[in-house]
Amino acid sequence: MVTLIPGDGVGPELAQALLHLFHELEIPVDFDLEEAGKAHFEKTGTYLPDSLFESLEKNKVALKGPMTTPIGEGFRSLNVELRKKYDLYTNIRPIVERGRFREEGRALDLVIFRENTEDLYQGIEEWVSDKEARSIKVITYDGSYRLVDKAFAYAQKMGKDKVTIVTKANIMKYTDGLFLRAGRDVAKKYPDIALEEVLVDNMAMQLVLNPYQFGVIATENLYGDILSDLAAGLIGGLGLVPGANIGDDMAIFESVHGTAPDIAGKGLVNPTAFFLSASMLLDYLDLKTYGDQIRSGLGLLLGNPQTSTQDLGGPLSTMDFTEKLIEKIKEGYHG
Ligand code: NAI
Repeated sequence: MVTLIPGDGVGPELAQALLHLFHELEIPVDFDLEEAGKAHFEKTGTYLPDSLFESLEKNKVALKGPMTTPIGEGFRSLNVELRKKYDLYTNIRPIVERGRFREEGRALDLVIFRENTEDLYQGIEEWVSDKEARSIKVITYDGSYRLVDKAFAYAQKMGKDKVTIVTKANIMKYTDGLFLRAGRDVAKKYPDIALEEVLVDNMAMQLVLNPYQFGVIATENLYGDILSDLAAGLIGGLGLVPGANIGDDMAIFESVHGTAPDIAGKGLVNPTAFFLSASMLLDYLDLKTYGDQIRSGLGLLLGNPQTSTQDLGGPLSTMDFTEKLIEKIKEGYHG
């Protein structure tokens, strides 16, 4: 059983499309549907109900839609709360060019490993006066080490020859310096994989100029958040980038994008990122064959603007795109 959290904004449309896809492809996964988020709060007075925590603790694996976080006021992010509560310290964001977003002869295949529980996301902020505010950045050696270790282990498994660690250690000598020190220590365990160190400002430029030079990036929470949106822009936008939040005994899969309030309820959301997140979940559940089917079906649709959603210049609604995907995958079954 997998916990399914539709969430806010475009989340319910994505969940509906996903359930249809899984049903039509006869994927052997049962979902336990759990409401949570701002819309749930407006109905019940609770953002994250107890039943959600019970379901997560029982199933240990979830697929989650986006949830609203107010900007500059109100409660801390519900997403950050779940990641911290269950110590989901590895955020994995694959940036893979598919379909017509592949350049001639080469395709970007980059994975960002983002530390998910520390840094400025700890929410330790204070007012010094009404004209001065402070936020405390927390980096620990152990927290950094375990994240970078996941990146190196992945690089080893995938046969990649280097891991790029991104910090701003020239300026934040203690915090980012510590992340880098932990990273260098991890690298000693993997003599066959090169360690590359890049400062975050340079990384932003390098990603725009020549992203193909990178395969695995390991970085802190805030830099990872920003760089993964930047990298999403390189391959066609937020509608295409999935993600996973993984701890030692729980995993929550979700797209990189948010609630997309500007298009919510209009049937316009591109479900690719959510379907790719579901494919990562299928890999995690040892159902990789189904994950591969979805990935290759999506690659075929994204090869043609006529079979894309509107964010990519195509004519299709969320549901029409889902139907086309089902059709493509079923065609594949019959050769
Ligand atoms: P956003 O990702 O929701 O939207 C940014 C832009 O990209 C919008 O124009 C949107 O329409 C477009 N977009 C995003 N995903 C798309 C998709 N699948 N198909 C087509 N177009 C897509 O970011 P924004 O506007 O900064 O945040 C909105 C809300 O989402 C905020 O409350 C924020 O806190 C929350 N959020 C939640 C996340 C989560 O639950 N994991 C992650 C990021 C933001």
